[in-house]
Formats: sequence, C-alpha cells, structure tokens
Amino acid sequence: MRIAIEGLAARHPAAASGSLPALKPLTLTVAPGEQLAIIGPSGAGKTTLLHALACALKPATGRLLLDDIDPWKLPVSQLQTLRGQLFLAPQAPPLPPRQRVITAVLAGRLPRQSLLASMASLFYPSHIPEAQAALEKFGLAGKLWERVDRLSGGERQRVGLARALVSSASLWLVDEPLSSLDPSRAAQAIDTLTRSAREHGATLITSLHQVDVAKRFQRIIGLRDGALQFDLPSTEVTHERLAALYAQHEEELLGATANGEENTAENPHIAPLYCR
Ligand SMILES: Nc1ncnc2c1ncn2[C@@H]1O[C@H](COP(=O)(O)OP(=O)(O)OP(=O)(O)O)[C@@H](O)[C@H]1O
Ligand SMILES: [Mg+2]
Repeated sequence: MRIAIEGLAARHPAAASGSLPALKPLTLTVAPGEQLAIIGPSGAGKTTLLHALACALKPATGRLLLDDIDPWKLPVSQLQTLRGQLFLAPQAPPLPPRQRVITAVLAGRLPRQSLLASMASLFYPSHIPEAQAALEKFGLAGKLWERVDRLSGGERQRVGLARALVSSASLWLVDEPLSSLDPSRAAQAIDTLTRSAREHGATLITSLHQVDVAKRFQRIIGLRDGALQFDLPSTEVTHERLAALYAQHEEELLGATANGEENTAENPHIAPLYCR
C-alpha cells in the first residue's frame, strides 16, 4: 500500500482542551512494500502516528492518502472495507483471556471472510494449518490449542504478531513488537515480521524502542514531541542525531548493553532496550 501524509496533525479525543496536538503537522510518503521504523522517546507520538495511519484516529488537520484514496472521505461501508487492508498490532494485543490461541490468530482473517464463515470458525476453527504455520514462525509451534490467559506476556505479544501473517492486509502497522521479548526472541520476531511482510508484498511500519533493531531497517523516522525530527536512510542516523532525538530522555537510549556492559563516556555505544 502506498501512503501519503500531507500536513497531517492528530489530537486524541480525550486530550485536554488547548493542549498541543499529539502529532504536529507531518508530511511524508511511503512506497508500496517499503519497510520503515519509527523511533523516539516516550510520548513522541509513535503510537498516535500508527493509529492515524490505521484510520483509528481522524486527522485534526491535513490529510492521509492510502493508495491515493482519502479514507475519511469514503462512505462508512467503504471505510470499513479499507480497514480490512490495514493490520494494526497494538503493543499489548487485547486478546480475550479464555480464547484459544488458534482463534486469536485466525481473528487476523476475519476481514476477508464472510460472517457465516467467521461464526462457524468460532465452533470449529478452519485454516488450522495456516494458523499453525504462522505460530511456528514465531516460535510458538506447541501453543495452537492453548488458552491465551495461560501464555506469558511475550508469547501473547507474538500471538498478536502471528495474526498479521494470516491477514490479507497490505499495510502492517506494528506498535513496539519487541517490548516483552528477550533479545533472541526479539531478533527472531523482527526477522519473521520483515520477511513475511516482504513475502505478502505488504508495507511495514513499526515503532521501536530498540534503536539497534531499528537500524536493520533501511529507513528510520525520528519523532519527538509530536514532530518529525528526521526521515533518513538508517546509515545516516548517526549517534549525534540519536543524541538530539533522545535529549533529556537519555535513559531511554542508554542502558545495559546486550552483553551486560555498562555504557560509559568511553564506551558510548547505542544499547538495545528490552525493558519497556
Ligand atoms: N488516549 C489518549 N488521550 C489523550 N492523550 C493521549 C492519549 N494517548 C496518548 N496521548 C498523548 O499523546 C502524546 C503522544 O503519545 P503516544 O502514545 O503517541 O507516544 P509514544 O511515542 O507512542 O510513546 P511511548 O513510547 O511511551 O509508547 C503524549 O503526549 C500522550 O500523553
Ligand atoms: Mg507508544
């Protein structure tokens, strides 16, 4: 899916009146099939931007074009159809506790199947091999029939990601997919996500707190205080740019490194963050 954002600003309905918009006017384009990471300190507007792209939050000003169509000018029924092409993975997927993993994963298929098929799959899930294959890719092969409330936080997070693989969405919007995962699971999850998005021909946009993981993407967007700080190839995202992006929030950038070394002035490398 192609994305064009033109001077788009967003404000949360519950925000205090007179407060600054969570997202200040932003302009950028994303090509079909492109993959990019959004980084920035807490409160920068990463989730807000993903929600605006998912048509879950209406722009306060400016406009969003998805495949050259302004979703907010569509009749409601067509907007619903368009939403079926958008996959949003929240950081903590709202999975009903007593639901089986298979049902939770196959919920990713709902927008592309009839109401009758969806009702029938509640009693006996169809597309079992598809769900199993998606789970295997996220290292959850044995969890197909497990109840969601018996999974760890990291397993639940990966179930939420596995949904993308069974969806037919052409835009995958993934909010902090690694926040509950250990480093090796995180590496596996991001590899699966990027490879699968490529195979599906889907555009992938993910917010990340792990700057080292973001650097695996060709393009990185830096947000701060709701404004675009940079939109650059990752090779141009230097330590200086990162330091400016996270100024006064250095604790979000600097921390224990993967091998347990402390960052010091002599050893100012960028550390992965797995604790959020
Ligand atoms: N539901 C809400 N109602 C009102 N204001 C909100 C709401 N959600 C977020 N905000 C505000 O919008 C701004 C951007 O928040 P957002 O959640 O997009 O940041 P973020 O970059 O995703 O942060 P984090 O890294 O902590 O997830 C913040 O100032 C936040 O307080
Ligand atoms: Mg967020």
